Amino acid sequence: MVIKPRLKGGLALTNHPIGAKEFVKRQIDYVKSQDKYEGPKKVLIIGSSSGYGLATRISLAFGAGAETIGVAFEKGVEGKRVGSAGWWNTIAFNEAAEKEDLVSKNFIGDAFSMEMKDDVIKFIKEEFGGKIDLLIYSLASGVRTDPIDGATYRSALKSTTKEITGPTINFEKETMEETTMGVATPEEIKSTVKVMGGEDWKLWIEALDKGGVLSEGFKTVAYSYLGPKVTYGIYKEGTIGAAKRDLEHTSDILNDFLKEKYNGEAYVSLSKALMTRASAVIPIFPLYAALLYKVMKEKGIHEGTIEQKHRLLTQMVYGNNPVIDEERRLRPDNWEMREDVQEEVEALWDKVTPENFKQISDYAGAREEFMQLNGFDFDNVDYNADVDLDELAKLVP
Ligand code: NAD
Ligand code: NA
Repeated sequence: MVIKPRLKGGLALTNHPIGAKEFVKRQIDYVKSQDKYEGPKKVLIIGSSSGYGLATRISLAFGAGAETIGVAFEKGVEGKRVGSAGWWNTIAFNEAAEKEDLVSKNFIGDAFSMEMKDDVIKFIKEEFGGKIDLLIYSLASGVRTDPIDGATYRSALKSTTKEITGPTINFEKETMEETTMGVATPEEIKSTVKVMGGEDWKLWIEALDKGGVLSEGFKTVAYSYLGPKVTYGIYKEGTIGAAKRDLEHTSDILNDFLKEKYNGEAYVSLSKALMTRASAVIPIFPLYAALLYKVMKEKGIHEGTIEQKHRLLTQMVYGNNPVIDEERRLRPDNWEMREDVQEEVEALWDKVTPENFKQISDYAGAREEFMQLNGFDFDNVDYNADVDLDELAKLVP
């Protein structure tokens, strides 16, 4: 079968398993081109199969020699359906890790469930040396079933202040178009906090603590985004912003607990804007990212997913140059948020039109990044070659 890209707005309906291998390989190559670092030895990554979680796993394994457990929600081959990008990323990671004798174990399923927590803890106890040094929380999900009351909550990408209309990029049609974000009801705000806030992160830490699998000096970091003025309406002042504030509040509770019991730490890290499966569907965000890339590339300070996470880990979490704000958040988004960067992005934002957006933004770069997330647009992958789905279906993460 020959696999071609098919898009719907900011969603990719197909992905390329051979391209996924290249996607993972390039990130590994980057880490190997950098110095090795002293980091954690045993790591659990929740949301390990794509975006920031995958990059973190690659940096820790190939940069610090960490053994990793990944939890992700992905699908394999079903009939003529090729499976999800994160499924293939995980298989590619495993293959590369195995070649270097790096232990990697995967749990594919719902991280929000108690059953998943129990399974992971059992594995840590019986087969992973008994303890972990680091937990990375990098989930992006639209739905969560609360394991305590069994109710299912859906997140809403909405404003909490007023209806917002603004431009975004439609990758399917390759156009810039207006999007409107409605105002969330109190119920929708609550549901989004339930899905994307700190509750599940806390449940993980509580379960791991009860299971006795946290080491002395244990650290945990959850990933978040703040963003600049042009995205405030959709992000900071949106339902996602409300959820992220809850995550930050949780980090303080967890930090107090971990410090006391394990001499440990809990942080939220605010990362740079990037195209991922999660961010590509947030209104306005893709256009902001394309303008930001233009400015950051011109200044020589652009980072992709792997560069961003590698800097967070080597300089901040396991290094001596942490950038921390007054609210105790790690700030690898510091280059994105630089005043000169934001001034130039705002100037472009005022000028951008459906006619000129491909010229004045780094549309090509943002689109390439989006396509590569799904294994497409690599110059060294033959996309006309037949992909043997039956053979691939035998592989499991
Ligand atoms: P992503 O979509 O690439 O990754 C999400 C991960 O969560 C995947 O591994 C997926 O399998 C997993 N997942 C989703 N639902 C799950 C479930 N029920 N059980 C188990 N695993 C599940 O997203 P991303 O952009 O890497 O986002 C990760 C975090 O980084 C989010 O908290 C996001 O807010 C944050 N972040 C993203 C950006 C950005 O620009 N993309 C910027 C800053 C911070
Ligand atoms: Na992730």
